[in-house]
Amino acid sequence: MSKIKSIKEALNDAKEILKDISDTPKKEATILAKYLLNVDDSYLFLHEEDEFKPYNKFISLVKRRGKAEPIEYITNRVSFYSREFFIDRGALVPRPETELLIDEVVKNIKKLNSKELCIAEIGIGSGIISIVLALLLPKVRVVASDISKDALNIAKINIKRYALEDRIKLYHTPYLKGIDEDIDIILSNPPYVSNSFKIDRPLEYEPKEAIFGGKEGGEILFDIINLAKDRGVKFLACEMGYDQKISMQNALLDRGFKDFYFYKDLAGLDRGFVAKNS
Ligand SMILES: C[S@@+](CC[C@H](N)C(=O)[O-])C[C@H]1O[C@@H](n2cnc3c(N)ncnc32)[C@H](O)[C@@H]1O
Repeated sequence: MSKIKSIKEALNDAKEILKDISDTPKKEATILAKYLLNVDDSYLFLHEEDEFKPYNKFISLVKRRGKAEPIEYITNRVSFYSREFFIDRGALVPRPETELLIDEVVKNIKKLNSKELCIAEIGIGSGIISIVLALLLPKVRVVASDISKDALNIAKINIKRYALEDRIKLYHTPYLKGIDEDIDIILSNPPYVSNSFKIDRPLEYEPKEAIFGGKEGGEILFDIINLAKDRGVKFLACEMGYDQKISMQNALLDRGFKDFYFYKDLAGLDRGFVAKNS
């Protein structure tokens, strides 16, 4: 028979398992315990001598994290733009830097002074960008595509959670193929990593079609730049790799965009661009 473990002992065991994979093993152990027991920090603190009943289940979750699986896939929860979303292995775990793309889109939409706008997002993934924009901008409508059925199913759960079914329409299609709506703005955080890039362990759990953008990495972004020109949208906003500024600048100039700028992330790296059709 296995020994009865208290909450305190279980957290210590978890910390030990996580110490090589995480910079914050105590914090991650606590997140997993709170998730499994459905309690908050103060409960754990006040009941630390109580038995941790689902100990074996807890340790199996901790071991998944110990193999570098993103904690968000284990808890099916992710926080983005101060809101909580459902997440699962079919979609990329939202990254904090993508919040900056939202800020750039909102800033440029405000300058347009238009009442009703249609935004198209290419590669909606879990839905975080389109959902946050729809919540921040009550007059916009969104059409969003993805080539992954699994990602679209996750987006659907999140769209329902925020009751946005009437304002965000999903399409299982590449780019905007077959979407005939009159689109004002295109935005995308597409896959932009080179196919030959050796990814680290946590990324191995994420869908390949959400990460790799072609031989060079920027190929999907180039296609999106072409599409934005062809569809004559008011502006295009995209996230990109930190080393893609020159290639994107050349692609934008080649397609006749004259009015564009690049924005940086909080680490000071080039992270995306906004290009206006003049
Ligand atoms: C980097 S993830 C971004 C997901 C989400 N928008 C976010 O910011 O977290 C890129 C998404 O684009 C999708 N995708 C890849 N190529 C695509 C294409 N040609 N057309 C539409 N979606 C595509 C992937 O399946 C994935 O869900």
